[in-house]
This record gives sequence, structure tokens and C-alpha cells, in this order.
Amino acid sequence: ARTLSFSRAPLSMDDTGAYRYESDGALLVADGIILASGPYAAVRENAPADVIEIDHRPHLIVPGFIDTHVHFPQMQVIGSYAANLLEWLNTYTFPEECRFVETAHAQRIAGHFYDEMIRHGTTTAVAYCSVHKTSADAYFAEALKRNMRTVGGKVMMDRNAPQGLLDTAEMGYDETRAVIADWHGKGRNHVAITPRFAITSTPEQMSAAQALAREFPDLHIQTHLSENRDEIDFTCSLYPEAADYTDIYVRYGLLGPKSLFGHCIHLSEREMDAMSEAGAIAVHCPTSNLFLGSGLFPLKALMRREKPVRVSVATDVGGGTSYSMLKTMDEAYKIQQLLGERLNPFDSYYHMTLGNAEALSLAHKIGTLDAGTDADFIVLNMAATPAMALKAEVVNSLAEELFLLQTMGDDRVVVETYVAGIASKSGLRS
Ligand code: GUN
Ligand code: FE
Repeated sequence: ARTLSFSRAPLSMDDTGAYRYESDGALLVADGIILASGPYAAVRENAPADVIEIDHRPHLIVPGFIDTHVHFPQMQVIGSYAANLLEWLNTYTFPEECRFVETAHAQRIAGHFYDEMIRHGTTTAVAYCSVHKTSADAYFAEALKRNMRTVGGKVMMDRNAPQGLLDTAEMGYDETRAVIADWHGKGRNHVAITPRFAITSTPEQMSAAQALAREFPDLHIQTHLSENRDEIDFTCSLYPEAADYTDIYVRYGLLGPKSLFGHCIHLSEREMDAMSEAGAIAVHCPTSNLFLGSGLFPLKALMRREKPVRVSVATDVGGGTSYSMLKTMDEAYKIQQLLGERLNPFDSYYHMTLGNAEALSLAHKIGTLDAGTDADFIVLNMAATPAMALKAEVVNSLAEELFLLQTMGDDRVVVETYVAGIASKSGLRS
């Protein structure tokens, strides 16, 4: 098949040095790892004689997509009609997440969650579970069963939510430690320290998160930052001693190179500088930002600052409206259009793959087709629907193919999803 992967961020549309495209390429896979990739003839020559060949011509093989911010307990929240973030949280999201105290429910939704990830070509997700340890147990057990690389965390939240969704500073600490002990490093599981956001954590719980971050410096940290004007005002009123929203997280030692901050739409220059200096990640969630009316994320502007802010891209389901990273980047493209910026297709595909892997400090494992990395890759068909097939008739460059897949594509363009070398989409119930 044809293969495409990135070695660094493309500087422009014409920066062919940023990616590797083989018009007649192949991957050699064994034991869940890519052993070789390159031109078909060369890979074939060095492969064992009895190797099983799977022919994916004329489709395109790219690294599996990575979703750096998604809420696993919000699969039945997606598409809930609300005016804004805080109304949406209080009316739909918090009540729904309360159900994850039940093991059977958490397990059922975890099964659907990875099914949808695979169906949409996402091979690694970074998820928020609910406050209940049961939800994290279900999330990680399901990933282990499927041998998927995953990042996730038990949410810490001890105020400003229904009683059924609250832990305490101490419980948040103890249960996060228990989740780490039970799951971190098992299979391909990574546990993230996950205070939901400053509104739902007391200063005592923020200190507990800080203690965890000190004890486990290698773990990811994830939370929300600067998504909505009312959210920002409420947050700052809860922490009057902080200079701004970002400064709250700084004060609790949560700003660092493994910290993922969902949204970051309305940051001041001072906050952007702080993010940049810490090497923290601003996670862009375009479908969510449009759906909740939160605002327009300055993706390109953040990247080209004198002090650039590291960015990643994500669905934010159930605030987000699609599991598809292609649809996500289609909306990201439109947001940049409204801001007078260009987001070219190579840039987009870099973000969905290597860019997100770099944001997670996992580029040595996922996000490329390099030899020695996880065999997590997908097969894409630009002619998957009648309307796409018609347009595909006039596509005559790789850039146009990528852009067609992004603009009109969703789960239907994903022909196959390989997880640790195993074809996993074809095995899903439909
Ligand atoms: N801020 C705090 N919790 C959430 C959530 O679940 N979704 C979104 N979009 N923002 C949040
Ligand atoms: Fe979110």
C-alpha cells in the first residue's frame, strides 16, 4: 500500500523533508512492533520467506490517530443541548457521570469506548474517567484486554458538583495512588494525575494533586484551563490570591512538560509565556469549542510566538461532537480560517499523529511508522462514500487526498485499524 508518516512538524506545504511518503510502501510487523518500513521491494526482500502479506492497495497507511483529550464517561452526553459549558456540565454531564459508580455500567461503556476509538482510527486515547475508581478500573482493564496504548486518570473533584460525584482531598489522593499501583505500566497503560479543573477541586485537593505530581514525576497531568468566560471568572473568584487562571495551576506545581491543559482558548500573553516556559501543552478541542460556543483557539498564533506554546489536538467527547480525529481537524481548519490563518493538510496529519505523540512525550513509541515503534497504524480510503469517490476522481496530489479525507471523512474512510499489529476494526460488531 501507500505509506505516509512524519519525522517532524512541516514548515510549509512544500516542506517534503518533514514527511516520508512511499507510493509503493510496506510495513513488516511482528509481536506488535514495526520491524521495518519503506519501499515494498526492500521490505519484502528482508522479510522472512513465510511472512503473511496483506495487500491494502490502493489505500493509504498512516500512523494511528492519537486523541489527547476525551471523556470516557460522556459517551451518552455527546450531543446534549446546552447554552454553554457550565450549563452543559450541571444539566447533563455531572448527572451522567454519577452512573459510573456502578461497575457493570462502567465496563459496558468502556467496551463501547474502545470500539469507537478503533472504528475511527484512533489507536491511543488520553481520557478522563469519572471520579469513581470503578470507572478507571473498567477503562484500563478494557485497554489491557485489547493491548491498546492508553492514558487515563481517575478524576479528582471534591466540590461544586453533585454529591455522587465528589471525593475528598484525601480520597482523591489515595484512590489515584491505588489506580497507579493497579494499572500504571500494566500492558501499555499510563495513568495520568487528573484534577478535573480548579472549580471542582478545593485548595486542599489541589495540594493533594501537587503531592502526587511530586511523587510520580513521570506521570502525565491533565486538567482544563481557560475554556469559557464565565468559567474563568468563577475560577478566579475561588482563588483570589492567584494572578490568573494559569497561575492557580502554577501555584500547585501542576505546570510542566507532561501537563495537558484542555482548551486554553482565552489565555493572556502572560499565561501563554508561563505555558511556554513550562513546556506545558495547550490541547485544542475544536468540535467542543464550537459546540459549546466557547471560542476560537489561536492554534497557529500559539505555535509561531516568540515563546511558542506546545499544542495538541483532541475530540473532547462528549463536549466534542465526533470521535473522528479527521472531523476534529476539519473543524480545526475552519476555526483557523475564521482567524485568518492557514492550516495545511500536512500540518493537520502531523498533529493527529506525530504531533500528538510528541505532546505526550511518546514519540519514540507511537505516532510514526518507524522501525521499533508500536504497530498501531490505520488504512484510509479517500473514496469510501459515493460523494467522496466522485471527488476522488479529480484528486491528483497527496495533499489533495489528505484534505479530502479530512474534509469529508469519518469512520467510513477507516478501512482497517491495526492495534499492536492486529487488525481490529474488522472484528468489531457494527
Ligand atoms: N471542564 C471541566 N470539566 C469539563 C468537561 O467534562 N468537559 C469540558 N469540555 N470542559 C470541562
Ligand atoms: Fe474536556
